[in-house]
Amino acid sequence: MKSLPKIELHHHIEGAAPPAFVRALAKQKNMDISGIFDERGGYHYDGFLQFLDVYEAATAPLSTPRDYADLVTAVLEEAAEHGVVYLESFLSPDFCGGRDVGAWKEYLHAMQDAANAAEAQGITLRGIVTCIRHFGPEAAIETARCAQETAGDWVVGFGMGGDENAGHPRDFAYAFDMAREAGLSLTSHAGEWRGPQEIRDTLTHLKVARIGHGVRAIEDAALVEHLAETGVVLEVCPGSNVALGVYRDFASHPIARLREAGVKVTISTDDPPFFHTTMTREYEELARAFGWDEGDFSDLNKVALNAAFCDENTRARIA
Ligand code: ADE
Ligand code: ZN
Repeated sequence: MKSLPKIELHHHIEGAAPPAFVRALAKQKNMDISGIFDERGGYHYDGFLQFLDVYEAATAPLSTPRDYADLVTAVLEEAAEHGVVYLESFLSPDFCGGRDVGAWKEYLHAMQDAANAAEAQGITLRGIVTCIRHFGPEAAIETARCAQETAGDWVVGFGMGGDENAGHPRDFAYAFDMAREAGLSLTSHAGEWRGPQEIRDTLTHLKVARIGHGVRAIEDAALVEHLAETGVVLEVCPGSNVALGVYRDFASHPIARLREAGVKVTISTDDPPFFHTTMTREYEELARAFGWDEGDFSDLNKVALNAAFCDENTRARIA
């Protein structure tokens, strides 16, 4: 499983920061963030809202473009070891320069340089600029401006994560319109914490091609049919859903039922160290739960390849 080539579309760069990496930066900067770790040194949180708090606290020591470049280097090295050949990662101007366009460009260029150097390990990174829902619509518009100013063949998309219970998708339509007009492809987290209606509203108001998670579509047969018919792609992160308690275990996760219904599903880790996962572990657990074999994973990777937001030259190179 480890050596199978993998395409991963749903991944948060800060969420992939190894605890030891964050601890070392905090020590170097004399910051006390010991409260976010458990006794074994891993991230410690209880429930989704505390996860979001710990996640944000873990970004505090990541305060310079150089820190983010080092993070990209560490993350890509680890992902490449698990066979990831192409990764789309959510990048947050909220944490990289406080949504100031000039500062954001410095962070972005540092991350791009690190990613270019990592190509030698056989892994390609592309960025999806991401707003954070619970920071509100105004912050989302500032984030979209950062996305507009850096859209191209490396920043390929615009997305939204954060607390799905904050606000309504229509509140973020303006930010998504800005990103669409800049030529960016779109995705938003939905149907992780809220039900089918949230997925419908996200499709209506934000006109996204992909949905982050989207797994709770399974609660509405008509929506499942609609997703299958229209080819909306779900960025499914089973290990994340199990770790955060959306589903009890892999066996009760709806990914296999969604796939059988003809929905385009893909597999990702979301925030690997927070959920004690890797792409290898996701594959192993799915193989165990559903009997999926190399042929299944090859088919799932073809879906992911076609759903990637990169340009056609990049797609052909990673195929
Ligand atoms: N940001 C990082 N991980 C997330 C998740 N699973 N849901 C919403 N926002 C997130
Ligand atoms: Zn996510």
